[in-house]
Amino acid sequence: MKLIVTGGAGFIGSAFVRMTVSSGLASVVNLDKLTYAGNLANLAPIDSSPLYRFAHGDICDAEFVANLIAEVQPDAIVHFAAESHVDRSILSPAPVFETNLRGTFTLLEAARQLKVPRFVHVSTDEVYGSIDEPHDADEDYPLRTASPYSASKAGSDLLALSYYTTYKMPVVVTRASNNYGPYQFPEKLIPLMISNALAGRRLPVYGDGQQVRDWLYVEDHCRAIQSVLAKGREGQIYNIGGSCALPNLEVVKRIIKATGQDESLIEWVKDRPGHDRRYAITSDKVSRETGWEPQMDFEAGLQYTIDWYKTNQAWMDAVRSGEYQDYYRKNYAGRAGGAASE
Ligand code: NAD
Ligand code: DAU
Repeated sequence: MKLIVTGGAGFIGSAFVRMTVSSGLASVVNLDKLTYAGNLANLAPIDSSPLYRFAHGDICDAEFVANLIAEVQPDAIVHFAAESHVDRSILSPAPVFETNLRGTFTLLEAARQLKVPRFVHVSTDEVYGSIDEPHDADEDYPLRTASPYSASKAGSDLLALSYYTTYKMPVVVTRASNNYGPYQFPEKLIPLMISNALAGRRLPVYGDGQQVRDWLYVEDHCRAIQSVLAKGREGQIYNIGGSCALPNLEVVKRIIKATGQDESLIEWVKDRPGHDRRYAITSDKVSRETGWEPQMDFEAGLQYTIDWYKTNQAWMDAVRSGEYQDYYRKNYAGRAGGAASE
């Protein structure tokens, strides 16, 4: 099997490429623009494999995308590439709509013209918006997006599904909950808190810290995508959750404990605008139809992740230099006293 994977130098895409190539499941051409979030060091464990090749390019570049698909003739495209961070989408929405909407459209159109046999569009549970207890969203739940990021992902989901309905293109959409694990860029809650806690820096908690997220270990997510790639039905949506709903403050306290730090490091900062209170999905459909279940227990997964960051300090130092410092100041400056000082 031959795959084109987009965004394979990012956090989840690189985990998918490492797992797919190292198990010999498929050969992979990784199409990635290498934005601030793309990092070829994430692929070091497999980058000399004959099953792997990197193609540096932009999913918005129609000519590049069409030439690559024509040359590779993949059995499937697995589409991860996106601007993936909510806070960045609030600070600067344009790149989100360019990549997540125009980029997805460009890929879908090239895949349709060149008759790619399968297209997995990787999306998010954020498209359902905040969900009141005791409800959990299934795949028919209404879309109620709050941020430019989630609106762009909902738009790209609808675009992908329209290609199935209109052109009978073999598209499958996945919607996963919050991922965590090694190689995650330290702008997201868990790696940011681990990185700051290990260095004894302040831990900026938004609002009252009682927002709930459902944590999914990244390799569990990638196994689910492999299952959907093999067994998912065309034109269908599959939720993928970790069955591990926790308030943010609880996650931060566990990180503090596991890193041997003190709760006085917590800094209460101004809330994220339009902050979704609670995400909650059911993954019954993907389990029933493909047999997938999450395997990683959160406590074990969090400890493994913390240990990975401890032993990969050079990776962390490299990604925290340069652009990250500017982003950190922009996002946290003015939110509270010390959080802006990295
Ligand atoms: P990430 O930000 O770590 O990586 C994104 C990758 O896409 C980077 O390698 C980047 O260089 C690449 N990219 C960005 N714009 C591009 C473009 N125009 N052309 C080519 N490549 C481009 O993202 P992630 O956290 O790994 O998320 C991957 C996908 O999974 C996204 O579609 C995201 O919406 C979805 N998702 C993420 C989570 C999560 O918790 N992180 C949960 C559910 C779904
Ligand atoms: O639900 C899936 C989504 O999860 C993905 O689609 C997104 O790509 C991914 O970024 C993530 O979105 P969230 O906004 O939920 O993740 P983030 O890690 O940014 O924040 C998690 C929670 O932690 C959220 O309630 C905001 C809060 N938070 C985050 C940061 C970065 C803080 O309290 N402080 C922080 O510094």
